[in-house]
Amino acid sequence: MIIAQISDTHVLERDEQHFVDNNASLASIIASLNDEDPRPDLVLATGDLTNWGHSGQYEMLEEIISDLQLPVLPLVGNHDVRDLTRQSFPGAPWVDAEHASWITHLDDLTIIGLDSTDPDSHGGVFDESRETWLRSCLDSATGPVILSLHHPPFATGVEWMDSSGFAGLAELRRVIADHSSQIARILCGHFHRPVVTTVEGVTTSVCPAGTYHVGLDLRPGAGQSIIRDPRGYQLHLIDGPSVVTHTRYVDTGEAPFDPGWA
Ligand SMILES: [Fe+2]
Ligand SMILES: [Fe+2]
Repeated sequence: MIIAQISDTHVLERDEQHFVDNNASLASIIASLNDEDPRPDLVLATGDLTNWGHSGQYEMLEEIISDLQLPVLPLVGNHDVRDLTRQSFPGAPWVDAEHASWITHLDDLTIIGLDSTDPDSHGGVFDESRETWLRSCLDSATGPVILSLHHPPFATGVEWMDSSGFAGLAELRRVIADHSSQIARILCGHFHRPVVTTVEGVTTSVCPAGTYHVGLDLRPGAGQSIIRDPRGYQLHLIDGPSVVTHTRYVDTGEAPFDPGWA
């Protein structure tokens, strides 16, 4: 089974620009995903799908993503709006709750999309209602679990990105610790650059962004930095509890070459 992950596409309205051409970038990613062989079983989109959550941006998102020949599981990010995201993806298995989370199954794999947003916060949020829901999902899962959420449940070391915080992080990490043997991987977005760590014993990764990236500046007190790193997506090869992750970059301008020794 292959789950493709795209993240932070920050789709704009037609002719709008914000650092880079986010819409063209998503179109390139979709073209590349459609060319994948073998085909991923689904595409997990880990939030910040639109740039400001405007209805015109959701219209563009729907238009661009209509070219994707694979099913999509969307998560909301802090740049998104829950109701507009639900409207744009009516087929997603949304739970009947204020938070826009979902749970679904693919063979014996349970895939959980945890809404880590709050309309009033840039950072992550994990509250009592989400804890009750997540614990019931994990209690009922019989096989391996992929837990996805927009906000990484750890500090990245890039201060200005970490400074928006994660309310209820200790509670979320307690839930993860209680179910660490079940959770095969935690998949996140938001950070706009790939990173991997371990959270309560569970491998946890952030996918590259579909658009501009965060500069890698680990100096204490370093200010904001946005750069044009190669954009891409990840392919997670899942076999039982094993998750092998590959990163595919798009539009790198590089052509294959013969190194001579191959
Ligand atoms: Fe983002
Ligand atoms: Fe975000």
